[in-house]
Amino acid sequence: MVIQSHRGAYEVLFDDTLLADPEKLIDAQAHFLIDENVARLYASELRAVVEHPNAILIHATEENKSIAKLIPVYERLVANHIRRGQMLVAVGGGIVQDICCFVASTLLRGLPWRFVPTTLLAQADSCIGSKSSINLRDTKNILGTFNPPRDVLIHTRFLDTLERKDLRSGIGEILKVHAIDGIAAFDRLAVDFDRLLIDREVLTSYIRSALRIKQRFIQIDEFDVGIRNVFNYGHSFGHAIESATSYAVPHGVAVTIGMDMANYIAAQRGLLPEAQYARMHPILRANYAEYSHTPIPFDAMWAALMKDKKNTSTALGLIFPVGAEASIERVQVAPDDGFRDQCLRFFANIEQ
Ligand SMILES: NC(=O)c1ccc[n+]([C@@H]2O[C@H](COP(=O)([O-])OP(=O)(O)OC[C@H]3O[C@@H](n4cnc5c(N)ncnc54)[C@H](O)[C@@H]3O)[C@@H](O)[C@H]2O)c1
Repeated sequence: MVIQSHRGAYEVLFDDTLLADPEKLIDAQAHFLIDENVARLYASELRAVVEHPNAILIHATEENKSIAKLIPVYERLVANHIRRGQMLVAVGGGIVQDICCFVASTLLRGLPWRFVPTTLLAQADSCIGSKSSINLRDTKNILGTFNPPRDVLIHTRFLDTLERKDLRSGIGEILKVHAIDGIAAFDRLAVDFDRLLIDREVLTSYIRSALRIKQRFIQIDEFDVGIRNVFNYGHSFGHAIESATSYAVPHGVAVTIGMDMANYIAAQRGLLPEAQYARMHPILRANYAEYSHTPIPFDAMWAALMKDKKNTSTALGLIFPVGAEASIERVQVAPDDGFRDQCLRFFANIEQ
C-alpha cells in the first residue's frame, strides 16, 4: 500500500519475514526506539536490534509520552552522536510511535523515521496519517506535529504476544474506522466480530481494510482541517475517559465507550434514530464489556471534556453519527445542563 503525503509517498509493507530477518532493519547509521516489552518478548529474534549500540528502550506509558519525559530521550540520542539524515526506527505501539515521530520532527530540525508497529492499534490505524501526539501534564495529545514515516513494516506475528486488553483496544479503532466508512462496512465487521480474536486471517483482512479506509481520508486531508475530523469519532469522550481514569482504560477501549456515548447522546438529541444506536450498541458494548465496571469519575471526565482541543470558546466540537445513514459528522454542542444530563444518563446505564 502506498500512501501519499505532503512529504511524498511512503509505503506500508506487510512483511512476514521481519522477525526471521531483523537485519533488514539494521543500518550502522540508524538509531532505535524500542518498546521495552517488545525487546523482552522478542529478545532472541530481535537481538541485533535490541543490542545495537544506538538502541534506546522505552517503557510505553502515557506518562512517558509527555514532553517532560522526552528530555532524557533527546539526551540519549545526542549522547549517541545522532547526525542529520540518520534514521530513527520505532519498534512498538502507538506510544513509541508518537515519541519517535515527535522526536524525528524536532531533533536537528527533522530526521527521517521508520515504523515497525507491534500492536493491533498501531498496525490497523495509527501507523499511517503522519500525526505525532504528546501529552502535557494531564492534557493528552495536546502537543504534536505532522511528520510521515519513510516506511511502515507490518509483521502481524507481533500480535501473538499482545494482551487481550490491547487487542480490544486495536479492535476499538477498527470499529471506529468501519463505522466512518458507513453502515454496510460496520455491519460486515459486526458479523465477523467474534472471529477477530480467534482467526488471524480475518483480523489481518480488517487491518488491511481499516488502513484502506483511513488512506482515503488522510490523502485528501492529511492536516486534519476538514473531512479527516471524523476520525475523532469517539475521541473527545474517549480522551476524557482515559484522563478521568488515569489511563486505566486502554485508548481504543475508551474510544469504543466514546463511540457508544456519542451514539447515545446523538439519539437523545434527536440527531440519530434510536434504531441506529441500538444497531451498534451490542458490538461496541461487547468490545468494552470488560471495562464497564471501571469507575469513571464523572466530574473529572467532564473537566477533561471541557479542555478538548477541538472545542471553541463557546462550544464543544463533537463528532456524532447523524441521520438515517448514521453518517459521521462534526456537530457544535453547547456545554449546558441538558448536555451534562445526557452524559450523566449514559454513565448511569453503562453497565447494561
Ligand atoms: N499518532 C497517532 O496517529 C495515534 C493514533 C491513535 C492512537 N495514538 C496513541 O497511541 C497510544 C496507544 O497505542 P497502543 O494501543 O499501540 O498502545 P501502547 O503503545 O501503549 O502499547 C500497549 C502495551 O502493549 C505493549 N506491547 C507493544 N507491542 C507488544 C507486543 N507485540 N506484544 C506484547 N506487548 C506489546 C506495550 O509495551 C504496552 O504495554 C495512545 O497514546 C494514543 O494516543 C496515536
